[in-house]
Amino acid sequence: VRGDALERTLEGVHVAISAGGTREPLDPVRFIGNRSSGKQGYALARVAAQRGARVTLVAGNTADLATPSGVDLVRVGSAVELRDAMHKVAADADVVVMAAAVADFRPVSLTGHKIKKTDSDPDPIVLTKNPDVLVELVSSRRQGQVIVGFAAETGDETTSVLDYGRAKLKRKGCDLLVVNAVGDGKAFEQEDNAGWLLSREGAEASIPHGPKTQVASVVWDAVTARLTASQ
Ligand code: CTP
Ligand code: CA
Repeated sequence: VRGDALERTLEGVHVAISAGGTREPLDPVRFIGNRSSGKQGYALARVAAQRGARVTLVAGNTADLATPSGVDLVRVGSAVELRDAMHKVAADADVVVMAAAVADFRPVSLTGHKIKKTDSDPDPIVLTKNPDVLVELVSSRRQGQVIVGFAAETGDETTSVLDYGRAKLKRKGCDLLVVNAVGDGKAFEQEDNAGWLLSREGAEASIPHGPKTQVASVVWDAVTARLTASQ
């Protein structure tokens, strides 16, 4: 592992991090959600704060995690709320990290009252696309801002996890993309993580299996190198 979490290499840097999963409401008591625990995003926030950064953490639903000390926490529910919060914070941030599991779709209509059970079959849930927050943040980026995305992939018969990651990096236009293999008990809700760190210039480094704080250290080392190079 490169880098020491206690070196204050992010002094004077404002970082905006999204973490956890969004919840897309169906009615006042129900939602569509996902299994994201927020642990990787919180680990990124903790390590950045230890390195001296000013950290704003925009968190959707998470496991029961302690807010890292010195970190400003903004709570959000849906993808659209997360998007609004991230745009606000990113306008003043030197680094943006999208570690949140943002729902790709949301129910078209939100009923103001609880959907009641009747004798007939329920109506199908009609979904519409959510905005791609990462793509939006890339297109409104400030001069010199470093933007990091995450990709959780399973791979399939035709395409490997890494190939999906490479394609996603191009599509998103961010500077760095952390690619994690998921499924089979990997990544989601786990303490450990592993994967690859891809850069827009085509550099590819494998991230060794280890605690999510170690993955965070690798990410912040790469971000710091980019910030230093652009000064
Ligand atoms: N992301 C986002 N807004 C969305 C969906 C995803 O900002 N509506 C961000 C995630 O926070 C992550 C990156 O985009 O940093 C990749 O998310 P992922 O779900 O892997 O990519 P998608 O483009 O949604 O593609 P797919 O789910 O089909 O693999
Ligand atoms: Ca997605």
